[in-house]
Amino acid sequence: MMRRSAGPESPLTPPTAFEEVFAALPLLHPTPRSWAELAAANLPEFLADHAVCEQQVAVYALSLAGYYPEDPELVDRAAALAAEEVQHFRRVVAILRKRGWPLGGRRKNPWAQALRAQIVPGREPWTKVDRLLFGAMIEARSCERFTRLLEVIENQDPEVAHLLADLGPAERRHWELFHRLAGREIDAKALAVRFQRWREFEADLARGLGISPAVHGRNLAPSWCPSPSRRHARG
Ligand SMILES: [Fe+2]
Ligand SMILES: [Fe+2]
Repeated sequence: MMRRSAGPESPLTPPTAFEEVFAALPLLHPTPRSWAELAAANLPEFLADHAVCEQQVAVYALSLAGYYPEDPELVDRAAALAAEEVQHFRRVVAILRKRGWPLGGRRKNPWAQALRAQIVPGREPWTKVDRLLFGAMIEARSCERFTRLLEVIENQDPEVAHLLADLGPAERRHWELFHRLAGREIDAKALAVRFQRWREFEADLARGLGISPAVHGRNLAPSWCPSPSRRHARG
Protein backbone atom coordinates (compact mmCIF):
# COMPACT_ATOMS: atom_id res chain seq x y z
CA MET A 1 0.00 0.00 0.00
CA MET A 2 1.17 3.51 -0.72
CA ARG A 3 0.75 6.29 1.84
CA ARG A 4 -0.81 9.54 0.76
CA SER A 5 0.86 12.58 2.28
CA ALA A 6 -0.94 13.64 5.43
CA GLY A 7 -2.75 16.93 5.58
CA PRO A 8 -2.96 18.82 8.89
CA GLU A 9 -6.61 17.87 9.26
CA SER A 10 -6.08 14.19 8.54
CA PRO A 11 -3.36 12.66 10.75
CA LEU A 12 -4.58 9.16 9.89
CA THR A 13 -3.74 8.80 6.24
CA PRO A 14 -5.60 6.01 4.49
CA PRO A 15 -3.40 3.67 2.47
CA THR A 16 -3.70 3.57 -1.29
CA ALA A 17 -4.46 0.01 -2.27
CA PHE A 18 -2.26 -1.79 -4.75
CA GLU A 19 -5.18 -2.17 -7.12
CA GLU A 20 -5.74 1.59 -7.16
CA VAL A 21 -2.08 2.29 -7.96
CA PHE A 22 -1.97 -0.46 -10.58
CA ALA A 23 -5.05 0.90 -12.35
CA ALA A 24 -3.24 4.21 -12.91
CA LEU A 25 -0.14 2.55 -14.37
CA PRO A 26 0.31 1.54 -18.03
CA LEU A 27 0.87 -2.10 -17.07
CA LEU A 28 -1.19 -5.01 -18.36
CA HIS A 29 0.00 -7.72 -15.99
CA PRO A 30 -0.14 -7.26 -12.19
CA THR A 31 2.72 -8.68 -10.16
CA PRO A 32 1.38 -11.47 -7.92
CA ARG A 33 1.47 -10.94 -4.18
CA SER A 34 3.62 -14.09 -3.94
CA TRP A 35 6.48 -12.08 -5.49
CA ALA A 36 6.26 -9.51 -2.67
CA GLU A 37 6.16 -12.25 -0.03
CA LEU A 38 9.33 -13.77 -1.50
CA ALA A 39 11.05 -10.38 -1.72
CA ALA A 40 10.05 -9.55 1.88
CA ALA A 41 11.54 -12.86 3.02
CA ASN A 42 14.78 -12.10 1.14
CA LEU A 43 15.28 -8.40 1.82
CA PRO A 44 19.10 -8.42 1.61
CA GLU A 45 18.89 -9.75 -1.94
CA PHE A 46 15.99 -7.50 -2.90
CA LEU A 47 17.68 -4.34 -1.60
CA ALA A 48 21.03 -5.20 -3.21
CA ASP A 49 19.25 -5.60 -6.54
CA HIS A 50 17.18 -2.48 -5.93
CA ALA A 51 20.32 -0.40 -5.40
CA VAL A 52 21.68 -1.53 -8.77
CA CYS A 53 18.36 -0.66 -10.44
CA GLU A 54 18.53 2.90 -9.08
CA GLN A 55 22.14 3.21 -10.18
CA GLN A 56 21.37 1.96 -13.68
CA VAL A 57 18.35 4.16 -14.27
CA ALA A 58 20.44 7.19 -13.28
CA VAL A 59 23.06 6.20 -15.84
CA TYR A 60 20.36 5.58 -18.46
CA ALA A 61 18.81 9.01 -17.91
CA LEU A 62 22.19 10.66 -18.36
CA SER A 63 22.78 8.64 -21.51
CA LEU A 64 19.63 10.20 -22.99
CA ALA A 65 21.14 13.65 -22.46
CA GLY A 66 24.16 12.38 -24.35
CA TYR A 67 22.09 11.04 -27.25
CA TYR A 68 20.02 14.21 -27.65
CA PRO A 69 22.10 17.25 -26.63
CA GLU A 70 20.08 19.43 -29.02
CA ASP A 71 16.94 18.90 -26.91
CA PRO A 72 17.30 21.25 -23.91
CA GLU A 73 14.12 20.10 -22.19
CA LEU A 74 15.19 16.47 -22.39
CA VAL A 75 18.70 17.31 -21.17
CA ASP A 76 17.35 19.24 -18.17
CA ARG A 77 14.71 16.68 -17.26
CA ALA A 78 17.01 13.71 -17.71
CA ALA A 79 19.72 15.33 -15.57
CA ALA A 80 17.22 16.13 -12.81
CA LEU A 81 15.83 12.62 -12.96
CA ALA A 82 19.33 11.14 -12.78
CA ALA A 83 20.09 13.26 -9.71
CA GLU A 84 16.89 12.01 -8.08
CA GLU A 85 17.77 8.38 -8.88
CA VAL A 86 21.20 8.90 -7.33
CA GLN A 87 19.44 9.98 -4.15
CA HIS A 88 17.33 6.82 -4.29
CA PHE A 89 20.53 4.81 -4.75
CA ARG A 90 22.11 6.48 -1.73
CA ARG A 91 19.08 5.78 0.44
CA VAL A 92 19.12 2.07 -0.44
CA VAL A 93 22.88 1.87 0.08
CA ALA A 94 22.52 3.53 3.50
CA ILE A 95 20.05 0.86 4.61
CA LEU A 96 22.27 -1.94 3.31
CA ARG A 97 25.32 -0.50 5.14
CA LYS A 98 23.43 0.06 8.38
CA ARG A 99 22.32 -3.56 8.38
CA GLY A 100 25.66 -4.98 7.31
CA TRP A 101 24.16 -6.36 4.12
CA PRO A 102 26.35 -6.45 0.99
CA LEU A 103 25.86 -4.06 -1.87
CA GLY A 104 25.32 -5.91 -5.15
CA GLY A 105 27.29 -5.34 -8.31
CA ARG A 106 26.27 -5.54 -11.93
CA ARG A 107 24.04 -8.52 -12.69
CA LYS A 108 21.89 -9.79 -15.50
CA ASN A 109 18.41 -8.34 -15.68
CA PRO A 110 16.70 -10.32 -18.49
CA TRP A 111 13.54 -8.25 -18.19
CA ALA A 112 15.35 -4.94 -18.79
CA GLN A 113 17.64 -6.46 -21.42
CA ALA A 114 14.74 -7.89 -23.43
CA LEU A 115 12.93 -4.57 -23.29
CA ARG A 116 15.99 -2.58 -24.29
CA ALA A 117 16.61 -4.92 -27.23
CA GLN A 118 13.42 -3.56 -28.78
CA ILE A 119 15.09 -0.20 -29.38
CA VAL A 120 16.45 0.05 -32.92
CA PRO A 121 19.13 2.76 -33.27
CA GLY A 122 19.18 5.25 -36.11
CA ARG A 123 15.48 5.38 -36.95
CA GLU A 124 14.42 8.76 -35.65
CA PRO A 125 12.00 9.87 -34.43
CA TRP A 126 11.15 6.29 -33.43
CA THR A 127 14.45 5.56 -31.74
CA LYS A 128 14.02 8.56 -29.48
CA VAL A 129 10.37 7.69 -28.82
CA ASP A 130 11.31 4.11 -27.98
CA ARG A 131 14.17 5.15 -25.73
CA LEU A 132 11.72 7.28 -23.77
CA LEU A 133 8.96 4.64 -23.70
CA PHE A 134 11.51 2.07 -22.51
CA GLY A 135 12.23 4.44 -19.61
CA ALA A 136 8.50 4.77 -18.98
CA MET A 137 8.09 0.99 -18.70
CA ILE A 138 11.06 0.69 -16.34
CA GLU A 139 9.65 3.35 -14.04
CA ALA A 140 6.08 2.06 -14.17
CA ARG A 141 7.05 -1.51 -13.27
CA SER A 142 9.31 -0.23 -10.48
CA CYS A 143 6.44 1.81 -9.05
CA GLU A 144 4.19 -1.23 -9.23
CA ARG A 145 6.69 -3.55 -7.52
CA PHE A 146 7.46 -1.05 -4.74
CA THR A 147 3.74 -0.68 -4.08
CA ARG A 148 3.24 -4.44 -4.06
CA LEU A 149 6.11 -4.97 -1.63
CA LEU A 150 5.02 -2.11 0.60
CA GLU A 151 1.66 -3.81 1.05
CA VAL A 152 3.40 -6.88 2.47
CA ILE A 153 6.18 -5.20 4.42
CA GLU A 154 4.60 -2.16 6.00
CA ASN A 155 3.96 -3.89 9.33
CA GLN A 156 7.23 -5.86 9.29
CA ASP A 157 9.94 -3.35 8.49
CA PRO A 158 9.10 0.35 9.02
CA GLU A 159 12.42 1.58 7.61
CA VAL A 160 12.08 -0.23 4.28
CA ALA A 161 8.36 0.56 4.21
CA HIS A 162 9.19 4.26 4.52
CA LEU A 163 11.69 3.99 1.67
CA LEU A 164 9.16 2.26 -0.60
CA ALA A 165 6.38 4.69 0.33
CA ASP A 166 8.62 7.53 -0.87
CA LEU A 167 9.96 5.85 -3.98
CA GLY A 168 6.72 4.45 -5.37
CA PRO A 169 5.18 7.88 -6.09
CA ALA A 170 8.54 9.14 -7.44
CA GLU A 171 8.75 6.32 -9.98
CA ARG A 172 5.13 6.97 -10.96
CA ARG A 173 6.05 10.60 -11.67
CA HIS A 174 9.02 9.38 -13.70
CA TRP A 175 7.05 7.13 -16.05
CA GLU A 176 4.69 9.99 -16.70
CA LEU A 177 7.65 12.26 -17.48
CA PHE A 178 9.21 9.80 -19.94
CA HIS A 179 5.84 9.31 -21.62
CA ARG A 180 5.21 13.04 -21.88
CA LEU A 181 8.66 13.65 -23.39
CA ALA A 182 7.98 10.94 -25.99
CA GLY A 183 4.70 12.66 -26.81
CA ARG A 184 6.54 15.71 -28.12
CA GLU A 185 7.99 13.69 -31.00
CA ILE A 186 4.91 12.15 -32.66
CA ASP A 187 1.17 12.76 -32.67
CA ALA A 188 -1.04 11.41 -29.90
CA LYS A 189 -2.51 8.58 -31.93
CA ALA A 190 0.87 7.31 -33.10
CA LEU A 191 2.16 7.53 -29.52
CA ALA A 192 -0.78 5.50 -28.22
CA VAL A 193 -0.19 2.78 -30.81
CA ARG A 194 3.54 2.67 -30.11
CA PHE A 195 3.08 2.63 -26.34
CA GLN A 196 0.51 -0.15 -26.59
CA ARG A 197 3.14 -2.32 -28.28
CA TRP A 198 5.53 -1.65 -25.41
CA ARG A 199 2.83 -2.39 -22.85
CA GLU A 200 1.97 -5.71 -24.44
CA PHE A 201 5.58 -6.74 -24.89
CA GLU A 202 6.35 -5.87 -21.28
CA ALA A 203 3.31 -7.82 -20.06
CA ASP A 204 4.55 -10.87 -22.00
CA LEU A 205 7.94 -10.53 -20.32
CA ALA A 206 6.51 -10.05 -16.84
CA ARG A 207 4.32 -13.13 -17.26
CA GLY A 208 7.23 -15.23 -18.50
CA LEU A 209 9.68 -14.36 -15.74
CA GLY A 210 9.97 -16.67 -12.80
CA ILE A 211 9.40 -15.30 -9.34
CA SER A 212 12.61 -14.17 -7.66
CA PRO A 213 13.36 -11.56 -4.99
CA ALA A 214 14.83 -9.15 -7.56
CA VAL A 215 13.02 -5.89 -8.42
CA HIS A 216 12.14 -7.00 -11.94
CA GLY A 217 12.45 -10.77 -11.66
CA ARG A 218 15.36 -12.59 -13.10
CA ASN A 219 14.75 -16.19 -14.12
CA LEU A 220 13.27 -16.87 -17.52
CA ALA A 221 10.81 -19.73 -17.64
CA PRO A 222 12.12 -22.42 -20.04
CA SER A 223 9.04 -22.21 -22.26
CA TRP A 224 9.08 -18.45 -22.57
CA CYS A 225 9.29 -17.13 -26.10
CA PRO A 226 9.01 -13.35 -26.66
CA SER A 227 6.46 -12.29 -29.23
CA PRO A 228 5.63 -8.58 -29.54
CA SER A 229 2.56 -9.37 -31.61
CA ARG A 230 0.76 -11.36 -28.92
CA ARG A 231 -2.30 -9.71 -27.44
CA HIS A 232 -3.36 -9.79 -23.82
CA ALA A 233 -6.33 -8.41 -21.97
CA ARG A 234 -5.83 -6.18 -18.94
CA GLY A 235 -5.30 -7.97 -15.64
FE1 LIG B 1 14.28 5.52 -8.40
FE1 LIG C 1 12.64 6.58 -11.29
